[in-house]
Amino acid sequence: MKNLETLHWKGEESGRLVLIDQTRLPGEFVEIECRTVEQVWEAIKTLRVRGAPAIGVAAAYGVCLGLQTVAGADGPALLAQLDEVTAYLAASRPTAVNLFWALDRMKRTAAALAGRASPDRITAALLAEARAIHEEDRQMCRAIGRHGAPLLKGVEGVLTHCNAGGLATADYGTALAVVYTAVEQGQTLHVWADETRPLLQGARLTAWELHERGIDVTLICDSMAAVVMRERRVQAVITGADRIAANGDAANKIGTYGVALLAAAHGIPFYVAAPTSTFDLSIADGEAIPIEQRDPAEITHGFGRQTAPEGIGVYNPAFDVTPARLITAIICERGVIRPVDREQIAAVLGDEP
Ligand code: MRU
Repeated sequence: MKNLETLHWKGEESGRLVLIDQTRLPGEFVEIECRTVEQVWEAIKTLRVRGAPAIGVAAAYGVCLGLQTVAGADGPALLAQLDEVTAYLAASRPTAVNLFWALDRMKRTAAALAGRASPDRITAALLAEARAIHEEDRQMCRAIGRHGAPLLKGVEGVLTHCNAGGLATADYGTALAVVYTAVEQGQTLHVWADETRPLLQGARLTAWELHERGIDVTLICDSMAAVVMRERRVQAVITGADRIAANGDAANKIGTYGVALLAAAHGIPFYVAAPTSTFDLSIADGEAIPIEQRDPAEITHGFGRQTAPEGIGVYNPAFDVTPARLITAIICERGVIRPVDREQIAAVLGDEP
């Protein structure tokens, strides 16, 4: 099996970020090296690296790259550059809160040392913080897998939407961690992967990584999920999330809301698997979650072929919000949040900012 490491840092303070270029999958497995913060910004924007947790890890390393240009500068110059670089990276994509969470951690690390430590020490501490974010993400995947696997007892078929697997994280995913763990524990599972229009993360990435890891998977068009449920081929749905509000409303890849409605109509449990870094307790409910609008060409000229009339009006939100009432449980690294409501979330995430 290929080394499916989504991203890694090579070297020390003057190192670089290496990541799998997910836009080239499944046709080509290519790793690219980012040596500048601009390259990391572009990689996030164009989805070479994508998935909420992986975006956070990439951004943390992006900060380290952005500071390399002021190596040798004094403390105030370093901190001014840090402000600039974090603001720049924050403008790459708006919905996944893990991006802002990781950038905040980097800023807090520097703030704690400002005026007390040399610029070199601050730079070293920032690389250590990025590495810690990376390592915690690995641990998080394993913990989500452990907490979620028991929910799949007796399940034969599970449906997922978009890619919340290894490619979206530093290890083996959130939603797919639950699948991988259940299979490691001896369960036989069949995954139904929605292709996930318009950018086909389900077809290009989820189907690919499940296949690479030897898990049974059947790819379906998004429009087939209803019939797959009616035919009783799936007994559970698991997706990831990009931002979860204080009441449990969860933003995830466009189409997730529809899948949740279908699951409710068929009496199938709908689980969201996401780390605590995906919660945004400053937002009361899903109404306030910023939804990324993407280029109309992703719909009219997907993968280079024109499939709609020139100049046609297009609406292309990249995410939608599934209301908490449709979510059976949220699986995070601390355990299973059930029922999904403000009180349960506060009880599990009490100490989060
Ligand atoms: O636009 P993308 O590919 O970044 O969207 C990704 C998703 O919606 C994932 O489901 C989500 O980030 C969770 S990843 C563990």
